[in-house]
Amino acid sequence: MAAGNSEVAALAQQGQQRRAEQMSERSRMRSGEVPVVELRDVSKVYGGGTVGLERVSLEIGRGEFIFLVGPTGCGKSTCLRLLMKEIEPSEGELFIAGRSLKVIKRNRVAHLRRNIGNVFQDYKLLPNRTVAANVAYALEVVGQPRSEIRRKVPEIIRLVGLSTKLHNYPDELSGGEQQRVSIARAFVNHPPLLLADEPTGNLDPETSIGIMQLLYRINRTGTTVVVATHDRDMVDKMRRRVVELYEGRVIRDERSGLYSPDESTSEFAIRLRGEFGIGAEGHPN
Ligand SMILES: Nc1ncnc2c1ncn2[C@@H]1O[C@H](COP(=O)(O)OP(=O)(O)O)[C@@H](O)[C@H]1O
Ligand SMILES: [Mg+2]
Repeated sequence: MAAGNSEVAALAQQGQQRRAEQMSERSRMRSGEVPVVELRDVSKVYGGGTVGLERVSLEIGRGEFIFLVGPTGCGKSTCLRLLMKEIEPSEGELFIAGRSLKVIKRNRVAHLRRNIGNVFQDYKLLPNRTVAANVAYALEVVGQPRSEIRRKVPEIIRLVGLSTKLHNYPDELSGGEQQRVSIARAFVNHPPLLLADEPTGNLDPETSIGIMQLLYRINRTGTTVVVATHDRDMVDKMRRRVVELYEGRVIRDERSGLYSPDESTSEFAIRLRGEFGIGAEGHPN
């Protein structure tokens, strides 16, 4: 009997402890202490033995703007694809907003992906849909009512500076404009996390600055932004956090000493244009 009681007491204590842990987890979430993204000792070995990532640990806090840099093949896309749960790690564990991706059920993966905006080097627009219809598509697939779609689409297209192109098709746009559409599509649901894989990979420096400014503007709304790029020059000038990968390992994680959290998006673009030696006469965005 006594043993039984002590078992009950032990269980109650365990329960209390668990509740306390859950409470503190919740309050940590609320206070923003729980990282939006966490990799714990993550390795990815592809079939055939190619190493994608090797023992990477990384935390990305709410509202951060961070660059993943390194040469082609160092593991940047692997890292982003793991976060989308497109591929599974060989070792280690990934967390989004404190939730382990390991235990996410199949039917919740779609939900996870809806909360992560994605931008690609090659834009991935639907060629037979207009700009407006490409952006609307992102709202249709999550079941937004038509009235909401009619309201939100022009608004977000204005934000990316393409109001005059609403009814154009992707092949009638420049590369930079197509990337703006793809950013509009990624952001129209206001995801807390946006991942961009080489978003300026096909663009000239001037156009790239405009795209970076747009990503920065999105970041300023509170969205955490992770940009993978091999464009070291751009990264150095952005003055944001830089995580450098080499052969699947983190070899640098640096918050730039020059980081200025109060820099406005227009000050940012003016500074970047200056540093790149490009006149102020650029894209209006
Ligand atoms: N699906 C795959 N199958 C086999 N190896 C892959 C696959 N995807 C990437 N890799 C390899 O993993 C390493 C990291 O690739 P990746 O993450 O695409 O690098 P990055 O995006 O930095 O260029 C490279 O050696 C690449 O060849
Ligand atoms: Mg890549």
